[in-house]
Amino acid sequence: MQYQWYPGHMTKAKRQMQEDMKLVDLVIELVDARIPRSSRNPDINELGKNKARIVLLNKADLADEEMNREWISYFSDSGCFAVKLDARSRSGMRPVQTAIQEACKEKMERDRKRGILNRPVRAMVVGIPNVGKSTFINSFAGRACAKTGNRPGVTKGKQWIRLNKNVELLDTPGILWPKFEDPSVGLHLALIGSMNDQLLDVMELASELIKRLYGGYEGLLTERYGVERGGETAETLGQIAVNRRCLKKGGEPDLEKAASLLLEDFRSGRLGRITLEMP
Ligand code: G4P
Repeated sequence: MQYQWYPGHMTKAKRQMQEDMKLVDLVIELVDARIPRSSRNPDINELGKNKARIVLLNKADLADEEMNREWISYFSDSGCFAVKLDARSRSGMRPVQTAIQEACKEKMERDRKRGILNRPVRAMVVGIPNVGKSTFINSFAGRACAKTGNRPGVTKGKQWIRLNKNVELLDTPGILWPKFEDPSVGLHLALIGSMNDQLLDVMELASELIKRLYGGYEGLLTERYGVERGGETAETLGQIAVNRRCLKKGGEPDLEKAASLLLEDFRSGRLGRITLEMP
């Protein structure tokens, strides 16, 4: 399967990011907690050089709790403040506030020494499409002020959302482009539903998912679909089809339907909390 992110989109996103980056002190980077490696672009390290940095492991409600902890230590060890998050929930925002204060402590101290008082920290949210940037901005700002969806070119002048007396947030998030160098990146993005399934081979995706689930989560397959452990992926799909009554007219298992069902159950969290990448 081929996964794409058009070069034109990438150039545009990068240019915009470089422009916006000049305006801020702090970069709040959202990654998907189920695939923290594939859902980030390492170029952000270069783009966000000399800025305070926070990584938010978003959609942590869908990811494996133990893996969330592992990833948080990983990012903390690499010098970023990291917080796990369900961006839809207001209550998750307090630890983010704390992390912002921590991350910006040095800058505030520098300002104070130079006699600059009360200059708020300026922050921007960045991340690949669909990672939850707009949802986060809405929840964090406490009102529906961020534009939902990515519509490049909508905002001409920069809008800042004043969060409190210390922090201002750029209202348009920065769009990072995925980095497809490693073949697993496109696959993992497709598995979490970040790409248009119509362009993908659903059966192949589902069988790749099953292979990954065999590496530690096969109990969830048994629990939800009553399938036996450890068979070929096609066999497992067949069992899912039969047990879930995904059948064609003559009563034959409809593997494609079973594949879509499995993917949907995984993406929505119905299959359980699953992380596909380890630190
Ligand atoms: P973006 O700006 O980065 O492109 O992402 P956006 O906020 O539009 O979020 C993409 C989808 O992810 C939305 O779902 C949103 O509700 C969901 N989402 C965001 N954060 C979280 C989270 O922490 N946990 C979970 N489980 N979901 C999250 P959607 O189906 O596209 O829209 P909707 O049906 O929720 O409106």
